[in-house]
Amino acid sequence: MNARKADLQQADALVLFGATGDLAKKKLFPALYSMALNNSLHCSVIGVASTKWDHAQFTTHAVEAIAKAYPNPDPKILAALDADLSLVVGNYEDPQLYEDLAKALKDKQSPVIYLAIPPAFFGNVTQGLAKAGITERCRLVVEKPFGRDLQSAIALQEVLEEVLPEERLYRIDHYLGKESVEDILIFRFANSIWEPLWNRRYINSVQITLAEDFGVEGRGAFYDGVGAIRDVLQNHLLQVLALIAMEPPADLTSHTMEDEKLKVFRAISALKPENVIRGQYVGYLDEVGVGSGSTTETYAAATMHVDNWRWSGVPFYLRTGKNLKATTLEVIIEFKQPPRLLFAETQEGSSNLLRFRLGKNDGVDIELQAKSPGDHLKTEPVKLTVNFSAALGERQEAYERLLRAAMSGDHMRFTRIDSVLETWRIVENVINSEPHLSPYFKGTWGPERADELPESGWIEL
Ligand code: BG6
Repeated sequence: MNARKADLQQADALVLFGATGDLAKKKLFPALYSMALNNSLHCSVIGVASTKWDHAQFTTHAVEAIAKAYPNPDPKILAALDADLSLVVGNYEDPQLYEDLAKALKDKQSPVIYLAIPPAFFGNVTQGLAKAGITERCRLVVEKPFGRDLQSAIALQEVLEEVLPEERLYRIDHYLGKESVEDILIFRFANSIWEPLWNRRYINSVQITLAEDFGVEGRGAFYDGVGAIRDVLQNHLLQVLALIAMEPPADLTSHTMEDEKLKVFRAISALKPENVIRGQYVGYLDEVGVGSGSTTETYAAATMHVDNWRWSGVPFYLRTGKNLKATTLEVIIEFKQPPRLLFAETQEGSSNLLRFRLGKNDGVDIELQAKSPGDHLKTEPVKLTVNFSAALGERQEAYERLLRAAMSGDHMRFTRIDSVLETWRIVENVINSEPHLSPYFKGTWGPERADELPESGWIEL
């Protein structure tokens, strides 16, 4: 079948590798429920797993996962989902598994195969699918991280492209499925007031933070082989940076958008290890699944520069960490101070800030100076705040949007291989260098050393 035709055809089956795993439980089953609820799930769902469960065990597990995300789920929707769910059990290394799956898919013209499994299996599973003839007509969705460095990403791409054209590959970075993150595009390019300010003449710095107040939460074995740079900085944070820094795209097709993001990544020099601070929370070594004496970082902070005409000289500070003081995802645009002719006494440290709050209850704050009450002409900071769910209604969950996009053949919210390779290039020197970890206590903002990274410190979140 012609790749483009398969691309346009609505999926007639969804196959979830890793159906008994963590991602399926936390994100994919709730997303399927929500899709069923809003009538956008129109195909059967086939789980694939090595756990030897029967149908009843599998569907009970799915219902429990759904109920965690949506207390009191609608029984009619659950019954319909139950009827659509099935499970193929087998070892990912065993050709029989792929034969069984091929049998289950024999009447399906354009299945979507979602690999919600550890990245180390991506290559072998894809080859298994190819040998059973499934890749001839399927779309393949692969979770992040895509590879574990530049070389392995290239190697994985070679395995995938041998059996599938790029048009049928969907690389996940679930941040691209977040409505709050997508809103950066609307905010910048559907409003004309920002554009004159959006450059090195008016912007002093950009700070991007993903902080989490929890640790590895039972994912120690996975996380220990990955660390904060590969888990979050190379993908989620760089994608957010690209949306902040990119030029207006000529249109909203996925290629045009990716072209603009790619230009941003290309303008970022490879990070130098001395410009990156890595930390590990005290107690990490006691987590289940973590190797003894592990040097995996649970915190990373870096300064980056986008060396183009718009951004030259503006530092972008990125940080992420587990077990920090709070869970929050924010981008703060710090504008330059005004000339201090009039309000010098009171205006110290009073740059205007534009905050994108991208996590739960997302919104935007603009921090301004206003006249404080009284006979004097003193300033006082005030905040203009909008909370998007209050103003516009609830957002959809990222995974629901991503599943729907892959199932309808829309690449818009997925990463392209050239961008993925550029982002690996940016972090390559660091992930290959000695980690030099700074310890930090749980419930803090990470290693003290990281406080010195932004010239005037991290702006309070
Ligand atoms: C995942 C990482 O990709 O993103 C996790 O593997 C991290 O470690 C998560 O917690 C953060 O995503 P979100 O949507 O909760 O901000």
